[in-house]
Amino acid sequence: MDIHILFAKISWILLIIILFVRPLADIFRWKFLFKILRFRKKLGIICGISAILHVIVYLYGINSLSSYFSNSIFWKLDNFLGWGSLALIMMLFPLLTSNIFSQRFFKRKWKSVQRVTYLTFIFTGIHIFLIAGNWFYSLLPVLLWLILWIWAWKIKR
Ligand code: HEM
Repeated sequence: MDIHILFAKISWILLIIILFVRPLADIFRWKFLFKILRFRKKLGIICGISAILHVIVYLYGINSLSSYFSNSIFWKLDNFLGWGSLALIMMLFPLLTSNIFSQRFFKRKWKSVQRVTYLTFIFTGIHIFLIAGNWFYSLLPVLLWLILWIWAWKIKR
């Protein structure tokens, strides 16, 4: 397996864990879920770094590291690369603000900035779906998360 694919898989699995644990904890209130919640910030940082490594190693491998921003193939939304780039940009917001300084700076707005992760998750789901059309591995987690999120929101309301 290519090393960039390994980083991609790590990032995707961590994204799924990070996104699922909050609604699952709100719905089922199992203790171990609350334990995972405490590590969510750290998991998010590993997830973000893995995604960046996935992209850097891939671009380096095809000699496109320097032309990434100027080559339109990476930015058009008619292919999986464009959706990956969109996911990557969205991931930078929560990643760069996953620290105590940003938490103090944004105060109550900090959580809203972190919620941009939702978009990262959806865009990554589309990115993976467009590669092989495997909806089970790509869009199903997004759909399940959406159902859990609405369920948890109804409970908290
Ligand atoms: C948040 C950002 C991103 C995440 C989380 C992510 C995640 C993934 C995942 C999970 C896969 C499927 C791996 C597998 O086979 O199991 C994948 C494949 C891939 N991604 Fe990304 N990706 C991101 C952004 C990008 C970007 C920006 C690019 C390119 C500039 C990119 C290029 C690729 C390529 C080339 C593949 C393999 C396609 C193939 O198998 O033919 N990804 N990515």
